[in-house]
Amino acid sequence: MARLQVSSDTSAFEVPAALDGAGRLTPACAAAARAMIDAHGFVVLTGLLSAAEADEGLALITATIADPERRRCTFASETDNRHLRRDFCALPASPPVLGFAALLAQRLEAVIGEYCGRSRALLEIITLTSYEGSSHQYLHRDPSGVLSLIAAVEDVSEEQGGTVFVPGTHMHPGAEMRQAGATYAMMELFRRRANIAVLCHNLAKLWHMHRHRAPALAPGELRERVFSTRWDQHQPNLLRFVLGKNAEFRLAMLGPRTLWRLYRHRAEMKRLFRLVQSAPRKGTVILYRSDMIHAGPDNRSPRPRRLFGMSIARDIIEPKYWHDGYSPHPSLIAAPLSLGDLLETAPLTLAPPAAPVRAATR
Ligand SMILES: [Fe+2]
Repeated sequence: MARLQVSSDTSAFEVPAALDGAGRLTPACAAAARAMIDAHGFVVLTGLLSAAEADEGLALITATIADPERRRCTFASETDNRHLRRDFCALPASPPVLGFAALLAQRLEAVIGEYCGRSRALLEIITLTSYEGSSHQYLHRDPSGVLSLIAAVEDVSEEQGGTVFVPGTHMHPGAEMRQAGATYAMMELFRRRANIAVLCHNLAKLWHMHRHRAPALAPGELRERVFSTRWDQHQPNLLRFVLGKNAEFRLAMLGPRTLWRLYRHRAEMKRLFRLVQSAPRKGTVILYRSDMIHAGPDNRSPRPRRLFGMSIARDIIEPKYWHDGYSPHPSLIAAPLSLGDLLETAPLTLAPPAAPVRAATR
């Protein structure tokens, strides 16, 4: 059975946050972060938030999750959401939430501003909470033209499922010219190979849950995750996989020619690409280009994994494309905000981190 091979060493993609007297990234730190995003598609900024600031973010998340009227996200895995394996939902555009978002935007302005103009839309503010028994997402690209942010509001262990990235798979003009014009084809080949492993991993996990009742499956959950016809892009749903109904990964993606290329290019793929899983410490913030290949893994621990997320457009965006790919809260749809608005919003004011924290991810 194909196995997921993931490195948990993110040290090559980390930049320790260094703040000036106004609580913003120093020019040198911002330049290092931008260089990391340009080279690899993402950056792990360690120690960006103080413990008190991260606590505030966690409080916003827990208050939202406690609300029975919360707005669930329409992406990730809706089946996981229904069975409370995940709780991906939009945060309201309330003053405390916007204050926390403004703190992040203003502290990171020298980085975010390089990719997103002031008039570009704030697409969503969300929570990314997952619980034991969730499925590993398929490796995928989010809708392009967006810069996304993930903030760790508490320590996230590898078992809890920090986001997995494939460094260097972001798309930009001319990128396809590398490897004699075969770069994007090689990326897609690697993605399919990794998704074979994800499918096997998820099926094996569900079988284990079925046999050992640890964690216990809810009535009907196994059937819905493996044999349902309901829309879901990130479950190991064999029916949708075989019928070609899953846009992220389906049997038709593994035709004879692809299987031959997977074999023929196995060494080259190993040389070019690798899966790297983040395990961010509390206060770490990850910025990534939406068009890089990534996935939200399963939570393999009994401890919930909670992350704060935010996305900003890098270009103008059609409302339908926006609402299909991202999950703005109704209050944000009713009163849209731009990056410029966030930069002018009163930020959360607590003591910032005192000094750069080195080696803050595991
Ligand atoms: Fe994603």
